[in-house]
Amino acid sequence: MGVKQGSMKAVVAAGYGPPEDYMVAEVPIPVPGPGQIQVRIAAAGVNPADVRLPSGELGDAVRLTFPHVPGNDFAGTITGVGDGVTEYGVGDEVFGLAVPRVLRAMSGKRPSVGTGSLAEYAVVEADTPMVAHRPAGLPAETAAALATTGVTARAIMATACVEAGERVLVVGATGGVGTVLVPLLAAAGAYVIATATAEDGDLMRELGAAEVIGYQESEYPGGVDVAVNLTLPGDALASVAATLRPGGRLLGITFPAPTAETTGREDVALHLVFDMNAELGGMREVGEAAVRGELRATIGRRYRLEDGGQACVDFLRKHTSGKLVVTVP
Ligand SMILES: NC(=O)c1ccc[n+]([C@@H]2O[C@H](COP(=O)([O-])OP(=O)(O)OC[C@H]3O[C@@H](n4cnc5c(N)ncnc54)[C@H](OP(=O)(O)O)[C@@H]3O)[C@@H](O)[C@H]2O)c1
Repeated sequence: MGVKQGSMKAVVAAGYGPPEDYMVAEVPIPVPGPGQIQVRIAAAGVNPADVRLPSGELGDAVRLTFPHVPGNDFAGTITGVGDGVTEYGVGDEVFGLAVPRVLRAMSGKRPSVGTGSLAEYAVVEADTPMVAHRPAGLPAETAAALATTGVTARAIMATACVEAGERVLVVGATGGVGTVLVPLLAAAGAYVIATATAEDGDLMRELGAAEVIGYQESEYPGGVDVAVNLTLPGDALASVAATLRPGGRLLGITFPAPTAETTGREDVALHLVFDMNAELGGMREVGEAAVRGELRATIGRRYRLEDGGQACVDFLRKHTSGKLVVTVP
C-alpha cells in the first residue's frame, strides 16, 4: 500500500469568515513530504483554533492560505510515510495534535504541523512529541478527544503541584480541557470548585467536583489555594486572582500571561501554561495515562464529517459540555 493520492472530502473554509461559511468539499489528498506521515483520519476533535483562525480575528499575525482545512486533533491510520520517517510505518495507528502551518513558529522546537484533521486524510510532521502511536485499548474517538486536552491538563497538573486537601477553583471547567482536568485534580485529592451552567452541575460532580458554582464572579469562593483559568482572557483575571489566599497559585492557559499588574496580586505565583515543546509530557504520555484510566475524555457530542462544519458552528455558538468529536467513516 502506497501513499494515497487523488481527492478527498474535507471541511473547508474558502476565505476568512465564521464557521457558518464552512463547507464540505472535495480537495486534493495531501501527500507527505520528508519527515511527514499521511494519516487516514478516523476521528478529529474540535478546538477553539478551528473557528478562531478562519474568523480572521488574529489579523496579520496569522495569515491563512485558502482553502483552509481546520482541525488540530486527530486519530487515524498511517497510509503513507515520507522520506526519513523511521518511527512509523504504513498501517500504524496514531493520534496527536498538529497545528496549521501558519503556526509553525509557535509549535515548539520540534514542529507539530499538519494540513487539517477535519478531513478524510491529513499530513502531519512525524518527529514531534505531539504525535504518538495510539495504544491498543484507546479508542480513536477518545484519543482524538484527549490530544490537546490531555497534554494541556497534564501540563497544568505538573505546574500546579496540587496537594491533597487543597482547595482548587476551576473557571471554565465544563469545556474540553476542564472536563479532563477536573478528574485529575480530584484524583490528586483536591477539593475542586468548578464553574458550570445549571445543566452541567451533575456532570461536574460526576467528574469529581466537590462544589459547583455559576459563572458569575459574585459566586467565586475566597481563600483558595489554587485557581485555574481555562476560559477568560489572560489579562482579565483580577476576579479569579482575588479568590486566592496569600501565597496561592494562579494558572491560566489563555493569553496574555497574567501579571501582578493585571491580576492585582503580588503575593501569589502566576503561571501561563503553554508547553508546545512537550517538556511536561507529550502524546505518548497522554496515551499511557488514558490506558491506565487516569485521563478520561468527556465527549459531549459526535458528528460525521459531512456535519463537520456544523460541529464548528455548535462549538462557537452553543453551550457544549466536554469535547466535540467528528468521526470520519
Ligand atoms: N495554553 C494551552 O496550551 C492551551 C491548550 C488548549 C486550549 N487553550 C485555550 O484554552 C481555552 C479553553 O480551551 P477548551 O478547549 O477547554 O475550550 P472550550 O471547550 O470552549 O471550554 C471553555 C469552557 O468555558 C466555559 N465558559 C465560558 N465562559 C465562562 C465563564 N465566564 N465562566 C466560566 N466558564 C465559562 C464554556 O462554556 P459555554 O459554552 O457556556 O461558554 C466552556 O465550557 C481556549 O481559549 C483555548 O484556546 C490553551
